[in-house]
Amino acid sequence: MRVDIISIFPEYFAPLELSLIGKARTTGLLDVAVHDLRTWTSDVHRTVDDTPYGGGPGMVMRPEPWGQALDAVGEGTLIVPSPVGRPFTQADAHELAELDHLIFACGRYEGIDQRVIDDAAARMPVREVSLGDYVLFGGEVAVIVIMEAIVRLLPGVLGNADSLTEESHAAGLLESPVYTKPASWRSREVPEILRSGDHGKIARWRRDQSLLRTASRRPDMMAVYPADNLDKKDRKA
Ligand code: ADE
Repeated sequence: MRVDIISIFPEYFAPLELSLIGKARTTGLLDVAVHDLRTWTSDVHRTVDDTPYGGGPGMVMRPEPWGQALDAVGEGTLIVPSPVGRPFTQADAHELAELDHLIFACGRYEGIDQRVIDDAAARMPVREVSLGDYVLFGGEVAVIVIMEAIVRLLPGVLGNADSLTEESHAAGLLESPVYTKPASWRSREVPEILRSGDHGKIARWRRDQSLLRTASRRPDMMAVYPADNLDKKDRKA
């Protein structure tokens, strides 16, 4: 997978050299290029913003540097993190993990001139995505979050592919609590069932915990969970 990231703060992306994303880059599974938007400015101050038409607070990113930057990186799927985007989900991560070329455009200030997005959409798929109902300074941190969600789905990145099928959101439910050794810590015991060796009972316990957690923390997820996926014992839980 090829990823181009365009930002006025290229230094923000140092974490993409670490851990499993860094490893995916060195092994050649992932090719990331970070570009400084100011490369495509032509004035001495390397200006990327200006006042908004129609008035109002803050500044808007000018279209010219963005147009040139997007022309330079070529066509792919353009992802623009923004508080006005559609909510980013695990399903999006799966779809994006299938693609060969992703381009991330990091907005700052009040956002990017809308014509940049409209112009790009005339020649490539564009997704404006939001991480949640809150406002960040800019898209940089959102890109790192979205990259993590995508890159861990690329074949060969996670040692154990089962991690992907067992995890929260994979089956529309939150994962059950997890424990490791020691069996007793500060007088708190690991649930007996998990130490029983009875795989049927363990699976049932995990399923119940998943359902209880999802119902109490994420009633929105429970509401859309397909009734067909619930068995008799689930209903009791
Ligand atoms: N940029 C600013 N706020 C954001 C958010 N909530 N999600 C994605 N990108 C953003």
